[in-house]
Amino acid sequence: MRLIPHLLLAAGVGMSVSAHAADRVSFNADWRFMKGEPAGAAGAGAAPGLDDKAWRKLDLPHDFGIEGPFKQEYEGETGKLPWWGVAWYRKTFTAPAGDAVRQVYLDIDGAMSHATVWLNGEQVGGWPYGYSSFRVDLSKHLKPGAENVLAVRIDNPPDSSRWYPGGGIYRNVWLVKAAPLHVAHNGTFVTTPIVKAGEATVDVQVTLENSGGATAAQVSTAIYALDAAGRRTGPALAQSSPSALTKVGAGRQILLAQSLQLAQPKFWSPAKPQRYVAVTTVSGEGKVTDEVETPFGVRTVAFEAGRGLILNGEHVPIQGVCMHHDLGALGAALNVRALERQLEILRDMGVNAIRTTHNPPAPEMLELADRMGFLIVEEAFDAWRLGKKKNDYGRLYDEWHEKDLRAMVKRDRNHPSIIMWSIGNEIREQGEPEGWKMAAHLADIVRSEDRTRLTTAGFNHVVSGYNGFQTAVDVVGFNYKPWEYPTFHKSAPHIPVIGSETASTVSSRGEYFFPVSDDKSKGLANFQVSSYDLSAPRWASAPELEFKGLDDNPFVAGEFVWTGFDYLGEPTPYNADSTNALNFTDPAARARAEKELAELSKVKVPSRSSYFGIVDLAGFKKDRYYLYQARWRPELPMAHLLPHWNWPERVGQVTPVHLYTSGDEAELFLNGKSLGRKQRGARDYRLRWDDVVYQPGALKAVVYKQGKPWAEDTVQTAGKAARLALTADRSALQADGKDLSFVTVAITDKEGRPVPRSSNAVRFTVSGPGELVATDNGDATSLVSFQSPERAAFNGLALAIVRTRAGQAGAITVTASSDGLAGAKVTLNSKAQP
Ligand code: GAL
Repeated sequence: MRLIPHLLLAAGVGMSVSAHAADRVSFNADWRFMKGEPAGAAGAGAAPGLDDKAWRKLDLPHDFGIEGPFKQEYEGETGKLPWWGVAWYRKTFTAPAGDAVRQVYLDIDGAMSHATVWLNGEQVGGWPYGYSSFRVDLSKHLKPGAENVLAVRIDNPPDSSRWYPGGGIYRNVWLVKAAPLHVAHNGTFVTTPIVKAGEATVDVQVTLENSGGATAAQVSTAIYALDAAGRRTGPALAQSSPSALTKVGAGRQILLAQSLQLAQPKFWSPAKPQRYVAVTTVSGEGKVTDEVETPFGVRTVAFEAGRGLILNGEHVPIQGVCMHHDLGALGAALNVRALERQLEILRDMGVNAIRTTHNPPAPEMLELADRMGFLIVEEAFDAWRLGKKKNDYGRLYDEWHEKDLRAMVKRDRNHPSIIMWSIGNEIREQGEPEGWKMAAHLADIVRSEDRTRLTTAGFNHVVSGYNGFQTAVDVVGFNYKPWEYPTFHKSAPHIPVIGSETASTVSSRGEYFFPVSDDKSKGLANFQVSSYDLSAPRWASAPELEFKGLDDNPFVAGEFVWTGFDYLGEPTPYNADSTNALNFTDPAARARAEKELAELSKVKVPSRSSYFGIVDLAGFKKDRYYLYQARWRPELPMAHLLPHWNWPERVGQVTPVHLYTSGDEAELFLNGKSLGRKQRGARDYRLRWDDVVYQPGALKAVVYKQGKPWAEDTVQTAGKAARLALTADRSALQADGKDLSFVTVAITDKEGRPVPRSSNAVRFTVSGPGELVATDNGDATSLVSFQSPERAAFNGLALAIVRTRAGQAGAITVTASSDGLAGAKVTLNSKAQP
């Protein structure tokens, strides 16, 4: 068996497939699905003889919630989509006769939620927490040389999440076969306890499992360098001698450890994500029985209370975002290319770190982070025993917290991208007298599986509610309240601090409301939020307050902005949810929150996705993107003006103009006339011309840095909508049935200038070996199905997501048309897999 979960990614991301990969194969194809319970007694869906031919045929990963329909009466907090309830998945397969002498496992990377698994009518396992990966042993009830029926029942409880969780087997599923003597599930742990410039000590711990009769076992390990695509390059760089022969009893596990010296190691870092692979060979009585590949990186990670993150001896400020797991219009169903696109867009903004809120991500997310160079804080839970929703993790905590936490750390501890483990987010036990004991207990579980990384958590009451709970973890995470940084640091100068969740600024791409106000509660209309980036809910702020908090307190390790992308659910400030009211300890604040919520519940709110994203749900950049880019990539010459310049109803009226730039000085011109030159002060993060009187034409900013010309931006008044312009993010695709092209349509005037406020309906068609899987426009209030081939532009843009067909190479043509406008076409090339 080769456990190389992270090398078996979907094509389209340039991953290699191991020669022994047949021992761990994708088990995603050809499932049958039904929503609800089949007729008959409880558990009827598991009966091998059940006729499931009429059930829907599909391939995993699958999220039944995203199929909709959206309903106005569903709660916006979880996306107004039907993700809850019972569903069944069945797969019939023939097991080769040779399986009689092998161990056969089913690995499910994630099923939402409360999954139970049967093989041939016998219950063989399951796992309730939808974000955990788990293994089920099929060996005992497998029929080698015959037909077998696998059945999985999902029972996703309503009222169990504060965001859209998705429903179903929404991540990859694998069939794993091994000799009786093999490496246990997630049974390797590679660490680099001593790292010096010219040499690293690589320790490899291997847990062996023996499901056969007693035998003597031995392991040996070799280390190779990996290229950017995860392929081995060149010969072994280090090779251990075989371990001493050790007896493993029948049905027992043993732990073997090896230590290797790696000369001239290249360090892993976001800038240079160099990786290695430890290849561990297991033999029993002279015969090789298993071989496991464990990709890893050589890097040192430390936190200094006075400076923050020290990576490979150098200070690295954390420029991070929080991310929920959904992929917008694709829902929770894992797609590697969709994830990769999110990360590419974030990387271009200057993001170097991600907090996986508030749960373990798909394994492929961590493989991408390793390969692309992101630092990860992996978070386990949004709630412990007290819970935040009636049916959430609070129901599972007592029985499952230890299993879930161990499952997370054991699955992921070899990833160089992971720098810390978070045991929770805004946990309600923060306020309980005995809460700190739970925090200490959870942090201890993490440390018992991995002593090489620190623990953290996101706290919403660090200073105001300080009771010792906060320091049960190693690094204290502040959710908001940057003004409290100095108070905490003064009282605990030895404890590292990070902004685990910051800003929560809200905005809708392309919407601007007047008059512009710095009061953060303003800028709301039509269930949209103004994009002047000054609006935020009560507990939150504009980005600049957080920037100042960091700049004034350089001991803080950096920030994780809430959030990188918009996500399904939690459409604050139009979220009729009481969670945030519950979190208030101050009775006056709670009363205020409850009043707001009562007001909101009187109106019919259409909103179904968040406004927090720096990037919208469709992956289009909001203005804020450039505010962060200016800060995080100061070396990139860049200028971005807002708002757009199409205000026929505002001629002669004050229309403030703001500029985000990496320069330090700029002059603004309206139709060639200077409106003044402004300089950025030490704590100014944007330049503002707040008294500009609108006249149509061209608004231009000329930016300087240290007195020299640096960048320019122009926004122009556009004419009437006349045509469509199409751009594909990638046109060379793999014919693997997974690869995607994200095709953007922009509405332009006849000169090709974008028409910013246009909302023309666009119809997409796809011909050739591809299919239209979803459309979107980033409008948080749209209840149009994501599968609809027709999509109105939202402020000038719409998106079509096109997928290749497996095994069908050729040209795919995407056509966009709209009444009264000239249409457009783009051609994609789907190539056969090598
Ligand atoms: C935080 C919470 C997040 C999200 C955010 C919205 O308090 O941790 O999950 O709800 O607020 O601002």
